[in-house]
Amino acid sequence: MTLTPQATAEQAANELRERTGVDGYDVALVMGSGWAPAADLLGDSGEEFASAELTGFLPPAVDGHSGTIRSITDGDRHILAFLGRTHLYEGHGTDAVVHGVRTAVAAGAGTIVLTNAAGGIAPGYSVGSPVLIADHINMTALSPLSGASFVDLSETYSAELRAIARKVDPDLAEGVYAAMPGPHFETPAEIRMLRALGADLVGMSTVLEAIAARAAGARVLGMSLVTNIAAGLEGANLDHEEVLATGRDSAETVGRLLADIVGRI
Ligand code: 6GU
Repeated sequence: MTLTPQATAEQAANELRERTGVDGYDVALVMGSGWAPAADLLGDSGEEFASAELTGFLPPAVDGHSGTIRSITDGDRHILAFLGRTHLYEGHGTDAVVHGVRTAVAAGAGTIVLTNAAGGIAPGYSVGSPVLIADHINMTALSPLSGASFVDLSETYSAELRAIARKVDPDLAEGVYAAMPGPHFETPAEIRMLRALGADLVGMSTVLEAIAARAAGARVLGMSLVTNIAAGLEGANLDHEEVLATGRDSAETVGRLLADIVGRI
């Protein structure tokens, strides 16, 4: 018998509870490329194990991407961190991509923090800087929801949470994140198109997870780390190694910022 996506998430949440002994998480974070070291700053680390040990999670497919789940305690708060995520380009469909978010909400998390590595499109963004996601453009042509789920996305990324983030860093930039299917980077013509459509950042994740989180009733905070400038804007070529290296270089600064923000939400 195959379980529905919701039942699969509930089963994973039950396994998580047995594994960690935590009955009810407050906040869950998905740590994208470059963000994983930030998890060390969120509180006292408890159990950490391979995500694939829980029902419905797949092992990471790409070099440099991790795939673990860590249970963290910060005072009286329980924080769940996914170090690594499943991407759409791995080919397992939208349910696999949003399974972590569904599991986190089933485990009690009412706030989901989504982080990623992104290409900068807006003029003025510099490599290594964090950008708050104000809104998104879903260029994957897919939805994680099935049936007649007319979920309101007019405030996908909580204005209240963004205001808290800006209190921590008043200079924090905000932008619109466009999600492409990947795994290839964009052509310069595609970047000009995205810029004309109103995108400030481009990446290959986050939007489907944000939609699933909103559908499940959770609040969402999104943050990108600009790991490179998008194709054709600065003449340089892009490569995955650059994305990972920028992540490593910026881990400390963006990690502190993220930990400060999470401490206040
Ligand atoms: Cl330039 N494009 C996409 N799609 N994803 C990225 C990126 C660019 N830089 C980091 N991740």
